Amino acid sequence: MRKNKEKDHFMSEQPQVIRREDYTAPAFLIETVELVFDLDREATTVTSRLSFKANPDRATGAGDQVVLDGEDMKLLSVAIDGTALAASDYQVDATSLKFNAPSDQFVVEIQTRISPVNNTRLEGLYVSQSAYCTQCEAEGFRRITYFQDRPDVMATYRVTINAPRDSCPVLLSNGNLVSSTDLDDGRHQAVWDDPFPKPCYLFALVAGDLACVEDSFNTMTGRDVALRIFVEHGNEDSCDYAMDSLKRAMKWDEDVYGLEYDLDLFNIVAVSDFNMGAMENKSLNVFNAKYILAKSDTATDTDFELIESIVAHEYFHNWSGNRVTCRDWFQLSLKEGLTVFRDQEFSSDERSRPVQRIKDVQRLRAGQFPEDGGPLAHPVRPDSYMEINNFYTATVYQKGAEVIRMMHTLLGTKGYRKGIDLYFERHDGQAVTCDDFVRAMEDANGVNFDQFRLWYSQSGTPNLVWNGEYDAKQQTYRLTIEQKTEPTPGQVIKSDLQMPIKIGLLGRDGDELLAQTIDLTLGKQEFLFEDIAQEPVVSFNRDFSAPVNVGTTPSHDDLAFLMGNDTDAFNRWEAGQKYASDLLINAVKAFGQSGNADEALGDVDAFCNALRATLTNDDLDKAFRAQAMILPGEAMLSEQLQPADPEAIYQVRQAMRRKIGLSLQDEFEAAYRNNASNDAYSPDATSAGQRALRSVALSYLAATGESVFVDLALEQYRTADNMTDRMTALMVLNDQDHPGRDEALADFESRFASNTVVIDKWFSLQAMSSRTDTLAQVKKLMDHPAFTMRNPNKVRALVGAFAMANQRNFHVADGSGYRFYADRLMELDDLNPQVAARLAAPLGKWRKFDEGRAAKMKAELNRILAKENLSRDLYEIASKSVA
Ligand code: PHE
Ligand code: ZN
Repeated sequence: MRKNKEKDHFMSEQPQVIRREDYTAPAFLIETVELVFDLDREATTVTSRLSFKANPDRATGAGDQVVLDGEDMKLLSVAIDGTALAASDYQVDATSLKFNAPSDQFVVEIQTRISPVNNTRLEGLYVSQSAYCTQCEAEGFRRITYFQDRPDVMATYRVTINAPRDSCPVLLSNGNLVSSTDLDDGRHQAVWDDPFPKPCYLFALVAGDLACVEDSFNTMTGRDVALRIFVEHGNEDSCDYAMDSLKRAMKWDEDVYGLEYDLDLFNIVAVSDFNMGAMENKSLNVFNAKYILAKSDTATDTDFELIESIVAHEYFHNWSGNRVTCRDWFQLSLKEGLTVFRDQEFSSDERSRPVQRIKDVQRLRAGQFPEDGGPLAHPVRPDSYMEINNFYTATVYQKGAEVIRMMHTLLGTKGYRKGIDLYFERHDGQAVTCDDFVRAMEDANGVNFDQFRLWYSQSGTPNLVWNGEYDAKQQTYRLTIEQKTEPTPGQVIKSDLQMPIKIGLLGRDGDELLAQTIDLTLGKQEFLFEDIAQEPVVSFNRDFSAPVNVGTTPSHDDLAFLMGNDTDAFNRWEAGQKYASDLLINAVKAFGQSGNADEALGDVDAFCNALRATLTNDDLDKAFRAQAMILPGEAMLSEQLQPADPEAIYQVRQAMRRKIGLSLQDEFEAAYRNNASNDAYSPDATSAGQRALRSVALSYLAATGESVFVDLALEQYRTADNMTDRMTALMVLNDQDHPGRDEALADFESRFASNTVVIDKWFSLQAMSSRTDTLAQVKKLMDHPAFTMRNPNKVRALVGAFAMANQRNFHVADGSGYRFYADRLMELDDLNPQVAARLAAPLGKWRKFDEGRAAKMKAELNRILAKENLSRDLYEIASKSVA
């Protein structure tokens, strides 16, 4: 007995590893699901009627054991084919319900009791503000009822919801509303029926007193679809942009992919308490409210952009994810990589394509490259996991999208579309694998992607080095490219990958001598270009056609030339980033000796002149020019240094900003003046670009250190008529020692006290301040009445932003930032393990830093590992990070 207990304890500390190679098809299928919910905050009763059938692909049937997943519920009863089971006829433990199948086909009825109001994990059925809502991806359905909680079990659902009419006038689930009825005792009932078979992770239920905004969309075959967005009362005026984005996304999917919406209604619900960004439940998308609610005075241009892309992303899942879903969770990128690629392309078509590409690459580099080079590296299609929640990663999403993008580049728009058409034709209604997707691409185009498939199985970012040789006599240019991928945890041997590399050869006069996509397949490969009349400047990996690091740094002269002349806008920006990185990295190294950032930087006039040429080039889009002015961030610079000194990086980057501000002061003042707008705020890309350019100007002017520009920021704060201008000003003030900072922060707090989405900006801003009192301020803000550890957005805004977006203060040498952070992660782990684990990555970066910091970070990880009742989620991240 005692021994057993110890064993249990040990097991709970070392969660089981699930492996992709162990996949077997389900023993039984479930074809129809009937659910009845009697909603109650403390004690909801769920009655489930499941029709089982032995899986013809498996030799199973009568007498075989049926294993259903279930957690955190009270089992009230089980009946098979109408007869209640005696306690001896089934086994139930903390994670499952087991019984023997009476025959090949049978009906099981199960009653469970759950407590939505006590559900702090926000997985399964929970309460957000006054509403009930569900989150079932990846494995939340097993917290509602016992079920085969795996995506390859697909069923049609009929859902009955019983709830009090006054507190829950709105009752929603997937599919079509079949009936609404009044019941006794002030309760009412709604019945929903979803005709499309789906895995249980796409099930959803919402009930509450919500306001509704309505519109409609006429599809390509002339059907009218009712569109509804449900929000807390009072937010009805903040849904216009989300609704407009939805309609544009529906139209885009018809135009570009030929995909039409398949039901007569599409619902979106915005809730304040949500673990992630949003969820694609069939015809009932549930959103984190911050990705729906927007008005000119509450949302920045970036918020509008995010809303547009996330609304589109969830909508696009209706085909890429719902109609065709994943066989198992190792295939997650099948739906996520594809859907991210789709939403990126939608945004590119709706806005500026080069600027969208720059932002997508920045995101990949900031989030995915460090992941792929660190302790949590895993392939786009992982081979194993302990907790699937931990694999909703930048690798599965962003790198997965890059892999789809490369197939698009290799096959061309038409070939890609042929592959997509075949994929949906073949697999509609099925749960399939990443390999099935690639096979559809191959079969539709008659190509072989055997080597290309390695992108799904091999982790790590490839490093490319190129060398060029010009032969003036032969008029040829020989380009040699080498690729190499460093070992990653558990994967030491790396193969050469196939990738499309777009290149351009430019003449000194700026003429494009050649533009081509080359197909790199070897570890070292030579390409010979003929009829090249002069020694060219090479524009390499244009448009970031392959998601790799390029180790070759051209001369500063060539980089300045590319900044001003490349015909590929992405690479114009990239040249500036490379140039800036080279200067900053060298200066950080020199700073170590002198301790003087200005001296360490030395003469940067040539770089400033190249920036000036971009800033003042009216042929370039303003959004692009704004992007081109922004230096690589502190975290990005850290990635290129070993060890990284966060304080040196901060000092050098600030010094560079001051030099640029001083050198381009006249031009920035002109840009600030000339880009003021008298028109009413509009979130469109052109207006946003104009504001972005003006914001960059203000921020560089303030970087000069001249107090007039801090006054200017305060003036902008006071007179702003939109959130973008207000936040820009506040971000400038936020790093200052100036009474204007307190004035603006206090004004912001009182102005938006009642808006929970906006007040998160106020928390984040303070957590991201470079001021040295920031940690003390963050600790104080934890006691602010609007702060709670129970709301993921609040935790991310204050605690998460401090660790993820404030390198200088998180990494203070005494380790106080690490200690504070580990304490919060452990506190959160008891409430919401999924969010705690998602926030834990920053402590795993210890290898990047000096011995002192590394030891302190590891000590915190070990302290977390010693925590009592540590969740499987946080255990997986902490144990892999410390190793
Ligand atoms: N599937 C969601 C998306 O990418 C993300 C998500 C995962 C949401 C898990 C909640 C829980 O669109
Ligand atoms: Zn998604």
